Amino acid sequence: MTSSVRTICCIGAGYVGGPTMAVIADRCPQIQVTVVDLNQARIDAWNDADLSKLPVYEPGLDVVVGRCRGRNLHFSTAVEGAIAAADMVFLSVNTPTKTKGVGAGQASDLRWIEASARQVAACAQGHTIVVEKSTLPVRTAQTVKAILNAAQGEVAGVGTPKSFSVLSNPEFLAEGTAIPDLESPDRVLIGGEDSASIDALAGIYGQWVPSERILRTNLWSSELSKLTANAFLAQRISSINSIAALCESTGADVQEVAHAIGADSRIGSKFLKAGPGFGGSCFQKDILNLVYLCGHYGLHEVAAYWQSVVDLNAWQQHRISRLVVERLFGTVTGKRIAILGFAFKADTNDTREAPAIRICQDLLEEGARLAIYDPKVGDDQISSDLGVPATQDLTTQQSAEGSWLTCSTPAEAVKHSDAVLILTEWASFASLDWKQLAPLMRQPAWLFDARSIADRSAAEAAGLHVWRVGCGS
Ligand code: NAD
Ligand code: UGA
Repeated sequence: MTSSVRTICCIGAGYVGGPTMAVIADRCPQIQVTVVDLNQARIDAWNDADLSKLPVYEPGLDVVVGRCRGRNLHFSTAVEGAIAAADMVFLSVNTPTKTKGVGAGQASDLRWIEASARQVAACAQGHTIVVEKSTLPVRTAQTVKAILNAAQGEVAGVGTPKSFSVLSNPEFLAEGTAIPDLESPDRVLIGGEDSASIDALAGIYGQWVPSERILRTNLWSSELSKLTANAFLAQRISSINSIAALCESTGADVQEVAHAIGADSRIGSKFLKAGPGFGGSCFQKDILNLVYLCGHYGLHEVAAYWQSVVDLNAWQQHRISRLVVERLFGTVTGKRIAILGFAFKADTNDTREAPAIRICQDLLEEGARLAIYDPKVGDDQISSDLGVPATQDLTTQQSAEGSWLTCSTPAEAVKHSDAVLILTEWASFASLDWKQLAPLMRQPAWLFDARSIADRSAAEAAGLHVWRVGCGS
């Protein structure tokens, strides 16, 4: 399958726009792809000669960008020119939860989608296929079409009159596995009305995705499928975390329960890992968006059903911080606690909605001194997430206020701590040498393993009291 598209512009050089366009450029050398963003620093980082400084950390991304950048993959802040030159424009801008006004705390903030649609309306030349790549409330394509239609027929410069067609093509990649997810997707979803535009987009993916995995639906099914997929995935995590709590109370082991139920092919084994609750920029925002939409359409019971998935997640995070305080004799004031992992999952530098944020904030509130180690997340990010600046030295601090600093190795974080709390499943945490680490701690000492990744028997043999999520024995 081939495509008539020769030039692509992607608005938004974030976690989705950057990797997605890099893979399209890699697989379609005949297409010139320009990724634009208003954020100069982000574009500079995408253009950095040192590929380890790309603004998004994804295994394998540096290799793909290294192959295509400057050939048919370009990163730029020249938004207008890139739109004017494009046959197809992807809208891959942020769609966070609204923080004020109507729908605050639930509805998506669509100001960036609207602004980018208006830019396309103003700058496009001739016929342009506009593709919604961002995750959007169902029926947003109607708004995008209304904005574009207002410019329909205008002539920019000496070009042909403007015309547009709008497609929905949500992205299903997960952070940390973005490159394999993009190179070998379970499915690509294209929603639209105009078959020529759908064929053009399918032709691009058809360069490397088998045709039976390219699904075609109407616009609204496509938009709603994205929200639904995230809601179902998140629901599995809240379900297994609810059972983890019950396992801890009853002597069952959630890993054994997950294995037993996952062996049923109707249930399946994926996404059944109990942990500190889901994080990431999307699950919570997309479910809240679904809740808002259900409320808008008067489906209040449906809204309450999905809201409970988010509520259980917050409960699980607070449950873990409460449990740490209880085990440490009811107080963590002035106690040093090593936090291993701050990113919302392994293999990413992203901390958006990371469980570590809520759990660390709870512990700081209790007056703990946190020594945080994460291989990919630095001081500035943690300080903006926790809303408190780092302290210089935890040991000399006299006040009962909570404080934190970052450490450059797990051993540095663990030294003099009363407890270690593992919050991200970085692979290196599986091989931590507890025989060496335990003697560095103040005794009695605890290991709280919220990711079930540490070598439990080695930690116990080294004298630590061990709590593992969902393990009742
Ligand atoms: P992001 O915040 O990392 O990137 C969005 C970028 O868009 C930012 O760099 C911002 O500066 C830029 N931008 C906003 N308005 C602009 C404008 N008018 N012109 C030029 N640039 C503009 O966001 P993200 O994580 O890439 O997510 C983008 C969308 O994709 C969201 O809707 C999200 O829900 C969805 N999504 C994200 C993931 C993920 O793993 N992060 C996966 C699937 C879908
Ligand atoms: C998720 C979806 O998996 C993607 O399909 C989707 O495109 C994306 O959201 C999005 O729309 O942004 P992502 O959030 O990057 O991807 O990562 P996941 O692997 O889904 O993990 C999300 C959170 O759930 C993480 O905090 C992870 O640790 C947690 N998780 C995941 C569990 O606690 N248990 C599991 O079994 C799986």
